[in-house]
Amino acid sequence: MPSMAQNGRVTTDFKQSNQAHNSNAFARREEIRQQRESLPIASVKERLIEEVKKHDVLIIVGETGSGKTTQIPQFLFSAGFCREGKSVGITQPRRVAAVTVAKRVAEECGVELGQKVGYSIRFDDRTSGVTRIKYMTDGLLLREALLDPYLSRYSVVIVDEAHERTVHTDVLLGLLKNSQDRKFPPLKLIIMSASLDARVFSEYFGGARAVHIQGRQHPVDILYTLYPEKDYVDAALVTIFQIHLEERHGDILVFLTGQEEIEAVERLVQERLRQLPESNRKLVTVPIFSSLPSEQQMRVFMPAPDGHHVDSHIQVVLATNIAETSVTIPGIKFVIDPGFVKARSYDPAKGMESLIIIPTSKAQALQRSGRAGREGPGKCFRLYPESEFEKLEDSTKPEIKRCNLANVILQLKALGVDDIFGFDFIEKPSRAAIVKSLEHLFLLGALTDDCKLSDPVGHQMARLPLDPIYSKALILASQFNCLEEMLITVAMLSVDSVFYAPREKLDESRTAAKCFASPDGDHITLINVYRAAEDLLEKRKWVPHTERNEKIFKAKSEKIFKRWCKENFINGRSVRHARDIHSQIRGHVEQMGLRITSCGDDMLQFRRCLAASFFINAALKQPEGNYRAFGTGQVVQIHPSSVLFQSKVECVVFNEMVQTTNKYIRNVTRIEYMWLTELAPHYYTMQS
Ligand code: CDP
Ligand code: MG
Repeated sequence: MPSMAQNGRVTTDFKQSNQAHNSNAFARREEIRQQRESLPIASVKERLIEEVKKHDVLIIVGETGSGKTTQIPQFLFSAGFCREGKSVGITQPRRVAAVTVAKRVAEECGVELGQKVGYSIRFDDRTSGVTRIKYMTDGLLLREALLDPYLSRYSVVIVDEAHERTVHTDVLLGLLKNSQDRKFPPLKLIIMSASLDARVFSEYFGGARAVHIQGRQHPVDILYTLYPEKDYVDAALVTIFQIHLEERHGDILVFLTGQEEIEAVERLVQERLRQLPESNRKLVTVPIFSSLPSEQQMRVFMPAPDGHHVDSHIQVVLATNIAETSVTIPGIKFVIDPGFVKARSYDPAKGMESLIIIPTSKAQALQRSGRAGREGPGKCFRLYPESEFEKLEDSTKPEIKRCNLANVILQLKALGVDDIFGFDFIEKPSRAAIVKSLEHLFLLGALTDDCKLSDPVGHQMARLPLDPIYSKALILASQFNCLEEMLITVAMLSVDSVFYAPREKLDESRTAAKCFASPDGDHITLINVYRAAEDLLEKRKWVPHTERNEKIFKAKSEKIFKRWCKENFINGRSVRHARDIHSQIRGHVEQMGLRITSCGDDMLQFRRCLAASFFINAALKQPEGNYRAFGTGQVVQIHPSSVLFQSKVECVVFNEMVQTTNKYIRNVTRIEYMWLTELAPHYYTMQS
């Protein structure tokens, strides 16, 4: 975001005087103080502290934006809950929320991030020995429990956004309930939720106390379309411009399903803006989704870029359902809700997890429209007819009922919970799903015949913060002498969409992608992209390391990298994110003592390793041209984004299945069928 012009402006401001700077800082502090005092939660501070002192388990329900996440940890800190080196830990289902909230709270406390206030999420830790208010993802606290089952460094754990019912939240609640019965003095547990249904949590914790915080909500007009929309992206686009041209004041929040969709809409908005007269171009887009680097995520909380005054420019925030409850974006007056969300779905019979786009629940639709009425009356445009609303499910099904449980089971086993069927879940996953996931772990070699964690593989897998199938791939790769390649692959598979293909430049982008394409498939293609990017960004290594050189070359290589991304239709954000993830997992495998070597040009070796790792996801070409997945028997097609799309390859392994109009497999590599029987005989003899 910072343009050259803006950088220039900042320097000049600085030169003006330090006094100006001080008075700005003072004004900002004053603004924050006022904002905090005006939050609904401010008036019940003392009462809340009393409630926490009195009850070991407390449920706090309050409207989104009332100040729960940012204020309650500070209340507890000031009430002395962080004495003797103990901390308050707050979990969030989403990385973005943990990061943005921690930054905000650090600012409110007037401290540097990572000192008193910090965050810790997978692959990114901003805490230190003095951190007392720690925001983190629910998954991360689960990992901490592996090392410290009683979570003894915390005096209070706050499980925030519990209504989201992510699988990690559910498991965490189970573990906390379990350890609270055994620990003395018990860890204080606060469960926070935006929705009104506190009963389920209260009952689970034996009738725990629940308090409600009154929120403020302005009226929101709900508008529906007359007919169902065939293309909701296009409908959203039309609505954005309708609001932009007719309403003039207030920002817009659009709910989309994922990074690809958000980036596509971003480009389409820019394109349409260019067709408008200069005076009508005062609109800026701001994306927000989980894998966005954190400085870019903060953009939604800032005024529009330099020269664009907030009151004359409309901000269009393009968000995933992150913006439903976990982050509150100021200034929103209009909400556009196409009514869809990307969700995990699991078919235990087939053992296949996929990401599907499904209609939201009524509760989600209400949360979304509520976002328009935070600061004044607002409007919500639901891009479907009113009759459709009535057909929606009341609330979203907990994730634990619709996901592959292999990861969770692996962690529970590592925590010493051997009887998964008997574990006290808030809502039990189906028996079939547990059985299938146990079977999956067994096939990966993580469990022994009597369902205990295997040594060393199972224990090693539990230590890695990855999907079990990727953890296993890394362990195997060290034996196949291609861990270097597999580290890159796993990092690249952990980020969204490395390539992008704008509709209007489809041919151009496909030609560009060909430079990296490997005839063997997508995994090697991803390695090619990663290495090309690394080459560009690391070129400065070849000149003497002086501070000045570093700066010059960094700026230069950044510039070259940006241009290269643009020319090759590569998503720079995703590649950078993959580089971060890579260095983190590399650290983990080094600690585990795995050998990091490269197979050099011997890609056959690497493909054999892919076959040995992903054998559960193999598919064979059928006479009519489709593929049949071995494990599930499902008929699938290779996704058009794959380099093997329309190729005549006989046998493949893949990493992902997506279902749109057809069932597609993505991230596909060519293998030999014979390898499967050789490398995974326990599975392929069982199958036949
Ligand atoms: O958790 P809850 O939804 O109850 O509210 P919160 O997240 O604590 O937000 C309280 C206030 O802080 C809201 O008015 C937000 O707009 C503001 N906030 C902010 O300005 N910047 C952030 N990064 C997070 C919150
Ligand atoms: Mg919150």
